[in-house]
Amino acid sequence: MATSNPVPAVLPSVMSADMLALGSQLGALCDAGARVFHVDVMDGHFVPNLTIGPDFTAAVARAVRPRGGLVDVHLMVERPGYLLELFAPHADAISVHVEADPHVHRLLGEIRRLGCRAGLAVNPGTPLGAVAELADELDYVNCMSVNPGFAGQSFIGTTPVKLARLRDVLPDRVLLEVDGGIGPATLPLARAAGAEWLVSASAIFGRPDPVAAYRELAALAG
Ligand code: DX5
Ligand code: ZN
Repeated sequence: MATSNPVPAVLPSVMSADMLALGSQLGALCDAGARVFHVDVMDGHFVPNLTIGPDFTAAVARAVRPRGGLVDVHLMVERPGYLLELFAPHADAISVHVEADPHVHRLLGEIRRLGCRAGLAVNPGTPLGAVAELADELDYVNCMSVNPGFAGQSFIGTTPVKLARLRDVLPDRVLLEVDGGIGPATLPLARAAGAEWLVSASAIFGRPDPVAAYRELAALAG
C-alpha cells in the first residue's frame, strides 16, 4: 500500500479518457500533478452500464505507478467479493457500494487484508447510518453526487449537505471522496462541505485540453 493520501486531490476518472490515447493522456496528467486516478467498474447489473475490468486497470496502474500515481477502483458491481483479488494488485484503494452485498463489513476487511485502502460508496439515497456503523472498517467514503452508472450527469444539489453530515459522523482519519458532476462550478461546493478526493470525468476528458482542465480543477481544490 502506498504511504500517504494526497489531500486534497482531483481524481481524473479514466472511463471518459480517450481509450486510444490512454497512455499519453495519463502521463500528461501525472506530469501536471495528478496523483490519484479513479477507475469506474460497472457490471451491467448494479448499474445499467458496462465499463472495464482488471486487465484494463492493470494497464492504468502500469502507466501511473512509475510516476508516483495511485489507483482508486470504484466497484459498481453486485456481490463484488469475487473481484477483489483480481483488482487488488493493481489498486491502492477500492470502494464497494453499501447495497451491493449483504455482508459489506466482511468485504471491507477483505480489501484491507489485500493491502488496499477500504472504501464504502454511498448512493444519493443511502442512509448515513450505514456508514456510521462501519466507520472502524473504513479508510474512505465515496459519496456519489449522481446516481451511479454514467459520466456526464448533473451534480445533485443536496450533495454538500450530505457531505457535511458524513464529515460529522466520520472520524477525521476517514477520507471523504465525492464522485459525479464535479466541475469548476460544483467542485468548490463539495470542497467547502468537506470533500477531499474530488473525482471528475467529463470536466477533464470532455474538454479540448484535459491537462488545462485538470489544472483548473486542481487550483480550485486548493
Ligand atoms: C459515475 C462514476 C463517476 C463518473 C463521473 O457513475 O462513478 O466516477 O466517471 O463522471 P462525471 O465527472 O462526468 O460526472
Ligand atoms: Zn466513480
